[in-house]
Amino acid sequence: MYDGKILSGPYSSGLKESLLSSIAHFKALEGAGSPIIPYIAAWLPEGGDIWYEYAGTRLRELLGFRTTEVAGALRDNILSRCLYRIQEKPPGIDKIIRDKEQITRLRKVMRRVAERGGGIDAVYKFSANGRPLWLKDLARIEIHDRDRIVLSYGTLIDVTKEMQLEETLFEVQHELEFHKVNLESLVEERSRELSRAHLDVLARLTQATAFRDGSTGAHIKRLSRYCAVLGDSFGLSKRALEIIFHAVPMHDVGKIGIADAILQKQGPLSHDEFEIIKTHCRVGSDLLSKGKSTLLKVAQSIALNHHERWDGSGYPQGLASRQIPLASRITSICDVFDALASERPYKKAWSFEEAVEEVWDLRGKYFDPDLVDLFMKNIPRIRRIYRETPAG
Ligand SMILES: [Fe+2]
Ligand SMILES: [Fe+2]
Repeated sequence: MYDGKILSGPYSSGLKESLLSSIAHFKALEGAGSPIIPYIAAWLPEGGDIWYEYAGTRLRELLGFRTTEVAGALRDNILSRCLYRIQEKPPGIDKIIRDKEQITRLRKVMRRVAERGGGIDAVYKFSANGRPLWLKDLARIEIHDRDRIVLSYGTLIDVTKEMQLEETLFEVQHELEFHKVNLESLVEERSRELSRAHLDVLARLTQATAFRDGSTGAHIKRLSRYCAVLGDSFGLSKRALEIIFHAVPMHDVGKIGIADAILQKQGPLSHDEFEIIKTHCRVGSDLLSKGKSTLLKVAQSIALNHHERWDGSGYPQGLASRQIPLASRITSICDVFDALASERPYKKAWSFEEAVEEVWDLRGKYFDPDLVDLFMKNIPRIRRIYRETPAG
């Protein structure tokens, strides 16, 4: 039974004859019991709905509708579509459209692609009476310019079993991907926890030593923030700033090995006492030397070098200018500045302005002149930190 439009429409006899012979050929194919479901679809080059000139009887059985209803039924029941690459071996999936809305939106585009490519190689998923039905579609496109019509001679084959297997594989793969992502975030969370624990231990160690020489937790907090401002202004990366921020508090851990009588002495230190104080750099560096993390390595370097001076008059190694690692050059400015602006057992706190002036005076003597310039440029930020974290 013919349900199409061309044979009774205003089309050329050539087109009608070719269509009739194709239908006869397809019917013979079906009669021979071929599992292939042939069809002939048609549409106008300027667009509009697709219709079917012929659709194999098995398609009607599978989907339960007449040829005139094929287009609408296919459109209404389509669930997804995989467009396969044309003329490539082995054919790989080029595009998977898993959403019905997307199919509707892309229908015109896909039709144009098929026209240009001269064929269709796709797999569609339908809902057939509530059950999934997968059909593989292989079609040849003919554009009949004179008749202003496009014909698609195609064959469908039921690939439901194969595609269900593929879907299962896809789901398994998807699940594996999900677990992989989950595992990664779990590992990340775990290492975040570890580094939190790591920082916590370090903070406690730092606190234990910080109070011994009369400096306070507030000194350490301000110092970290001053150093971060200076490092940021210098152009250090976020990661480097984070490391400096957490490493700087450990600069004086070596004081753990120095007697309270010297550390907390009110009044000037004797030459010998000062020599003992100086050992805190090496003691601190030794304490931190076994660390494998970048954080501990930087902390060790700062502990060792934070009393070096730009002009080479510092200790313990008498390093000068850029021989002194950058993190230590940053720390020494901020450490001296904050020590001046804070009260200690042996001295009163200098005013903010006096401390800034001293830093400026020591430019090129104790401190890296470029870093002092950056320090001056950032006075508003430094002042904010100074106000937010009260001296003590
Ligand atoms: Fe120190
Ligand atoms: Fe300090």
